Amino acid sequence: MCGIVGIVGNAPVAPLIVDALKRLEYRGYDSAGVATIEAGALSRRRAEGKLVNLENRLKDKPLGGKIGIGHTRWATHGVPNEINAHPHFSRDVAIVHNGIIENFAELRAELIAAGFEFSSQTDTEVVAHLVTRGLDNGLTPVEAAHAAIRRLQGAFALAIMFRGDDNLLIGARNGPPLAVGHGDGEMYLGSDAIALAPFTDSITYLEDGDWVVVRRNEMQIFDAAGKPVERRRQKSIGTSFLVDKGNHRHFMEKEIHEQPEVISHTLAHYLDFTTSRVNDHPLPFSFAELDRLAISACGTAYLAGLIGKYWFERYARLPVDIDIASEFRYREMPLTKKSAALFVSQSGETADTLASLRYCRREGVPIAAIVNVRESTIARESDGVFPTLAGPEIGVASTKAFTCQLSVLAALAVRAAVERGHLSEADEQRLVRELSEAPRFASQVLKLDEQIAKVARELSQVSHVLYLGRDTSYPLAMEGALKLKEISYIHAEGYAAGELKHGPIALIDETMPVIVIAPHDRIFDKTVSNMQEVAARGGRIILITDAEGAARSTVDAVETIVLPEMPEIIMPIVYALPVQLLAYHTAVFMGTDVDQPRNLAKSVTVE
Ligand code: M6R
Repeated sequence: MCGIVGIVGNAPVAPLIVDALKRLEYRGYDSAGVATIEAGALSRRRAEGKLVNLENRLKDKPLGGKIGIGHTRWATHGVPNEINAHPHFSRDVAIVHNGIIENFAELRAELIAAGFEFSSQTDTEVVAHLVTRGLDNGLTPVEAAHAAIRRLQGAFALAIMFRGDDNLLIGARNGPPLAVGHGDGEMYLGSDAIALAPFTDSITYLEDGDWVVVRRNEMQIFDAAGKPVERRRQKSIGTSFLVDKGNHRHFMEKEIHEQPEVISHTLAHYLDFTTSRVNDHPLPFSFAELDRLAISACGTAYLAGLIGKYWFERYARLPVDIDIASEFRYREMPLTKKSAALFVSQSGETADTLASLRYCRREGVPIAAIVNVRESTIARESDGVFPTLAGPEIGVASTKAFTCQLSVLAALAVRAAVERGHLSEADEQRLVRELSEAPRFASQVLKLDEQIAKVARELSQVSHVLYLGRDTSYPLAMEGALKLKEISYIHAEGYAAGELKHGPIALIDETMPVIVIAPHDRIFDKTVSNMQEVAARGGRIILITDAEGAARSTVDAVETIVLPEMPEIIMPIVYALPVQLLAYHTAVFMGTDVDQPRNLAKSVTVE
């Protein structure tokens, strides 16, 4: 979603803002802009499309000025063109915004009636005009900004700048994140710590309802009522990571190849490999006392949760309700005193997941979250946090965050099984040892890259793909389809193999590739029967299995990707890699924008 940067500094800020916006590119955007105060006047450059277009504008017509705001826009209201790109101006006011102003239609009508003219189709422009109206009514810039913010309903992070005061930025947050960066005689605003990494690692995160007055040498945060509040200043851990592609063509490729290492770091956080036991990472509830666990998440994180459901129910006999967060937040699920809620999110900022968390907070159940961004809102609002140690994930398609989420879920399921008395010490040790092997198997699977690329070349010629799997390979089939859709734009569906004959089998003909994820597990033979049904109708099967599965399959696959034999508990973690590589190489062959696919945002901070 949109990215925000603001700098009140001591040198020309436009190039610095563009540099910071580049670090926000991963969030997804379709236009960008920057505004500064130069020689007492507000000036801006905006461009549709990628930041390179904005850079070219700035090359043709540079912007001076030591204070400025910048923005990458992911369109919600109004098409992604230059006119709708931020910053938006209203006489002496410049503004950038991330989120949705839900009462914008009402405010727009009110402002038009008061004589304001709108030049864009955005909801953001109403905020700029509201601030101007406050100034017209004799309010100071700070008062006018606060008065405008109080009128807004919906989700927003804002940065506001005023002609006539080149030592003042105002930031506000209600929903999407906003951080203040502390420099030496300079101050910054940014959507996250990664954006501000070249300038500072000293960060203060605003809380919902907060707004902040920022000047070169000071800042003051206020709550929604206008009362000064203190928020903790912290050292950002996000900044210690080098965010570049290394020798890889894309962040996604780099992140796929990082998996052996980050899975290993993540597992080591929850498992003691010396004793082969789960460790006692603090929990906000006791698994032994739960009668249900509610898991909620979006997209790939939801599919990780769905695999977690199989593990919690199988190993710990703990019933799990799992929901897509955008449904959970409104479906009014009753939660008992013996329930706990678990949220899964890479960014920790996904609006629907956060809203589901807040629903559970109101219901009074203990809340835990598996998150990758430790300083995120979901992490901060949870009673207990289970970090994934994936490092920053920049590619919009989630890869290493997914397998790290699975690593945490598997470790937690084993812990739950121990605490609920369903696992002997010997079985716990066996499972922990098996989990510890996941990074080694992941490394072996990465060596299949060339064969997988060959299969992907074929896939890049088709318009539809079906993914099938049973048991934990069923959510993985959905993940495979999601990956393919989001980065290659090929239509793909993921189905439970046994569900095929209840409808989707009608799609099968000689043109339909059917990718079957079928390790030789307890229900392998059932999946083979489903493959027979596909083969009988001319479908072209691509089988992802192990040597035993390849030997026992009675179906002619057009291609078989053979993975090493491995313990059942780590299969979803390791089998995720060929699925990701298939999508990655297909997208490369199709020539799509792999790291920033069209229409998508990395962190979805609106409903
Ligand atoms: O940051 P989150 O994990 O909460 O994000 C959830 C989804 O938006 C995310 O997993 C999305 O589905 C990915 N782009 C999939 O690759």
